This record gives sequence, C-alpha cells and structure tokens, in this order.
Amino acid sequence: MSLRLRVKEKFGRKFDEEIRFFKGWMSNTRAVGAILPTSAITARRMASVVDPESGLPVLELGPGTGVITKAILERGIEPEKLVSIEYSTDFYKQLKAHFDGVHFINGDAFDLSRTLGAFKDQQFDSVISAVPLLNFPMHRRVELIEDLLSRIPFGRPVVQISYGPMSPVVAMPDRYRIQHFDFVVRNIPPAQLWIYRKTH
Ligand SMILES: C[S@@+](CC[C@H](N)C(=O)[O-])C[C@H]1O[C@@H](n2cnc3c(N)ncnc32)[C@H](O)[C@@H]1O
Repeated sequence: MSLRLRVKEKFGRKFDEEIRFFKGWMSNTRAVGAILPTSAITARRMASVVDPESGLPVLELGPGTGVITKAILERGIEPEKLVSIEYSTDFYKQLKAHFDGVHFINGDAFDLSRTLGAFKDQQFDSVISAVPLLNFPMHRRVELIEDLLSRIPFGRPVVQISYGPMSPVVAMPDRYRIQHFDFVVRNIPPAQLWIYRKTH
C-alpha cells in the first residue's frame, strides 16, 4: 500500500475513533469523563508497566474506544490474557467487534466481585485504569484502588490516568504508596499518570 493510502487509512481510523468517543461522550458525559480518547503515546506509557513475562492476565478498566487496549496487546499480552471492563454498552459492542479474543465485560468497575464473574478470584499482573475517578466520591475511589491492589501481587502497579495536578486518590501511606509516574503533554488535555502499590 502506498504511503499516501496508509496515512489516509490511519487518519480515517483515528477520526472514526474520535467520532465514536464523541458519541459515547454525548450520550453520557459523566461516565466518559474526557474530551478525546487518550493519545497513543499516553496509552503506550501506561501499558509499559505490564509484565508480559509474569504469565498473569492484565486487568483494564474503562477501555472506551480501545486505544489503551491496543497498547496493552502491543506490549506482548495475548488477547486471551486481557480482561477489560467497560460500562458503556455501545463502547463494549464496538470493542468486542474490534479486538478478537479479549475478555471484555460490560459492567461496573466499582463493583468488581460481581462484574468480574468467572475472573473474580483471578490474580492479575497489573491494572491499567482510565475510569473517570474524579466523577466519584473519594471513599469510592479509595475502595476501588484497595480492591484492585488485592487482586495483584505485592509490588505490582495499578496505573491510573487523570487530568488534575493531584493524585485522584487520597494518600493512605499505611495502606498504599502513590507514585507520580508521568505527565504527558502530548495528550488532550495533558495527562497525569499515577501508580498505586501496596505498602505491605
Ligand atoms: C476517560 S474515558 C477513557 C477511554 C479510553 N480508555 C481512553 O483512554 O481513551 C473513560 C472510560 O471509562 C468508562 N467507564 C466510566 N465509568 C465506568 C465504570 N464504572 N466501569 C467501567 N468503565 C467505566 C467510560 O465509558 C469510558 O469508556
């Protein structure tokens, strides 16, 4: 395929993703929580924490149009080793059609024991989350982070994207550690990446 055609196809796909995202956003602004899909650079940075050698599946929250899903797969994770929870039924249907083999679940990431179903007792390698935490009360954010940390081995990360200068989850130094992982300017809006790890 010529370079021109490849560029056209790439931008066509990107535009299509943005239209899908915009439609999802219009239908439920509170649940989507961002103005545009995450950039590929940010998605790759988030996926960089995944350890493809661990043999454990990865848990993704809020895949939306699948930008981060793609980056996780490109990191070398087999589709069957990715469990991804999406609240919006429209996004869920599009994801299922687009990514063969990934275990997409249409449900609420804040109710993991129920939403994970057959995976509820599964240990994951790490968690990559794009759920709009700031739209939820602080006690629910803390509960979610602690629930996620109980599903991964000690030392492994929960990565969360947000857009404010502060961690979207309050510090609980006796329970988990917070690391400011990155600030990605090539994202609209610029993105802050946070990592949470168990303290003990
Ligand atoms: C900011 S968008 C991120 C989408 C995509 N991962 C990206 O980075 O472009 C947040 C996503 O989280 C989903 N979401 C919101 N609340 C959720 C929940 N409680 N459980 C699972 N997904 C949720 C939204 O439908 C949306 O797809």
